[in-house]
Amino acid sequence: MTSTDSRAFPADFLFGAATAAYQIEGAAHEDGRTDSIWDTFSRVPGAVINADNGDTACDHYHRYRSDVALMKDLGLQTYRFSTSWSRVQPDGGPVNPKGLDFYSRLVDELLGADIKPWLTLYHWDLPQALEDTGGWTNRDTALRFRDYALNVHDALGDRVGVWTTLNEPWCSSFLSYTAGVHAPGRQSKRDGLAAGHHLLLGHGLATEALRARDADLELGITLNLTVAKPVDVDSAGDRDAARRLDGQFNRFFLDPIFRGSYPSDLLADVAGLGLEDHIKDGDLAQISQRIDSLGVNYYHGELVSDQPAAHPLLAQAPTNRPTGSPFPAADGVFHHPQGLPLTAMQWEVQPDGLRELLTRVNTDYAASAGTSLYVTENGAAYDDVVTPDGRVHDPERTDFLTSHLGAVLDAIDDGAPVKGYFYWSLMDNYEWAWGYEKRFGIVRVDYDTQERTVKDSGAAYASVIRSRALPRG
Ligand code: FCB
Repeated sequence: MTSTDSRAFPADFLFGAATAAYQIEGAAHEDGRTDSIWDTFSRVPGAVINADNGDTACDHYHRYRSDVALMKDLGLQTYRFSTSWSRVQPDGGPVNPKGLDFYSRLVDELLGADIKPWLTLYHWDLPQALEDTGGWTNRDTALRFRDYALNVHDALGDRVGVWTTLNEPWCSSFLSYTAGVHAPGRQSKRDGLAAGHHLLLGHGLATEALRARDADLELGITLNLTVAKPVDVDSAGDRDAARRLDGQFNRFFLDPIFRGSYPSDLLADVAGLGLEDHIKDGDLAQISQRIDSLGVNYYHGELVSDQPAAHPLLAQAPTNRPTGSPFPAADGVFHHPQGLPLTAMQWEVQPDGLRELLTRVNTDYAASAGTSLYVTENGAAYDDVVTPDGRVHDPERTDFLTSHLGAVLDAIDDGAPVKGYFYWSLMDNYEWAWGYEKRFGIVRVDYDTQERTVKDSGAAYASVIRSRALPRG
């Protein structure tokens, strides 16, 4: 292809796909693993659609070899996975060698296939025993997290070079401890804020400890970030709604990490909810450790107002439990539809938001710190159909993928140091409160037979990876 009919990716750009332990592994009680908060929460009546859980999931624990072979066939250069704390340290207690061995075998398999392992230490599955002592509202959990990070490093540090501390702490604090739609299902503004601070502290402690172990590790964190726009830029109320959303979604995490402080407007928004009681001397210095890479997860942007609107997002509550707002001080922030196409999650498809987000994160944070950016998750669920030929023809997902890869190229053209992209997800899997109903994979999983089928979107991604270029237009 000539340069006029395609857009090339930089030579060092990494193409990958992502998964998470609880969503794919299964083997929930094998080789010593004990319950995490998701094992418990998924059994709370009404918490998860069809009361599904991750007991078997994609059975990846037993099928990791063929799954890695599939990754190789797709041409993936890197694979982002997470380790399960409950497998490595059942009940948060002593190290379980059998649990670590699984990850050791997986890493060897990846390296043998020339796929770079991209390890995330925490993708939401806290050992239930630690939740029983307060979970992330307990400062001690941050210290336990550092110990867990070092235990995983003991076993894998010789072969894994990229370490992400946390996946989307916004979800594991506010969705989990304030809105109550994720494990452990608490509904408290104070608890969400305490959890958010302690997650950040755990990130800082683990980053410092891993850096001390090995200065060559590439260390980072993955945040789910959004682009918050006011419905009416001339409305002070709408602008303030956008500011509050940006504060509690983006800046709550970015500012402590990159600037060593919480934003003052956010502290004012959440005044009286106890956040400042948890911030001890030295915490912010601890949190603002240098990171090498920032993982950005992007699914859609938000158009917001201080006035209500009928919005599909509001009608999507996946459970029959009463849910709260995830934002401690944004009860009056209302999402409005932008009139864009919707995925099966009722999320609007807005690729230009990814360009805008990457450019903003670079300008406001990463550039001065010399931090590289990676899109560590981006993807779409659609109601896939298996046609009589046994295939999954999913042009909407292919469009989603290619339009967002185009947005990444746009951001690179704007000067953002975006070094890689991970599609979410390698395969259909356990989608938290939605159970198995929502399919994000570029590989279909038949949950009755565990058969894997590469969807058309998977073939399209493989072709982009092979040519290292995106066809124009
Ligand atoms: C992200 C999660 C990931 C998956 C996608 C759809 O928030 O990190 O596990 O559920 O959403």
